[in-house]
Amino acid sequence: MINLNINDKSVQFDGDENMPLLWYLRDDLRLTGTKFGCGIAMCGACTVHLDGKPVRSCQTPMIQTQGKNVTTVEAVNAIQVGAQIQRAWQDLDVVQCGYCQSGQIMSATALLMEKIAPSDADIDAAMGGNVCRCATYVRIRAAIHLAADRLQTEAGKK
Ligand code: FES
Ligand code: FES
Repeated sequence: MINLNINDKSVQFDGDENMPLLWYLRDDLRLTGTKFGCGIAMCGACTVHLDGKPVRSCQTPMIQTQGKNVTTVEAVNAIQVGAQIQRAWQDLDVVQCGYCQSGQIMSATALLMEKIAPSDADIDAAMGGNVCRCATYVRIRAAIHLAADRLQTEAGKK
């Protein structure tokens, strides 16, 4: 039995401990905001937070979630940074088809949780594993800077 928290709810998983977390989220819990893209940790569409760090849920076996906190895009707005990221995404109209965007938002939120004023190089390093076939990269970078500015203003650092 694997005990973990998903979006602040305690859950118990009683299945194959090698099953990817992504399958559990989408197929068992119906948290379908997290997307399946490549299945081999190459696209970032399946990114969620494991204890606040971005991970590829398609390559995270359930055994690695024991005792951990998982956050998915469905609950990212409960985090102050996540709410600002989503607001900036809307204000700058980042999304095109949308398929990659859950993963983009989770990676961007993790970046700003670590670093409140990232440089372009920081953004490129943090977001490099999140592929967007619609090439929304310029708007993603602008939205991260906008969210960072707003967070710094809220924190009295601007
Ligand atoms: S589906 Fe997990 S990285 Fe592509
Ligand atoms: S918005 Fe279409 S793949 Fe990124």
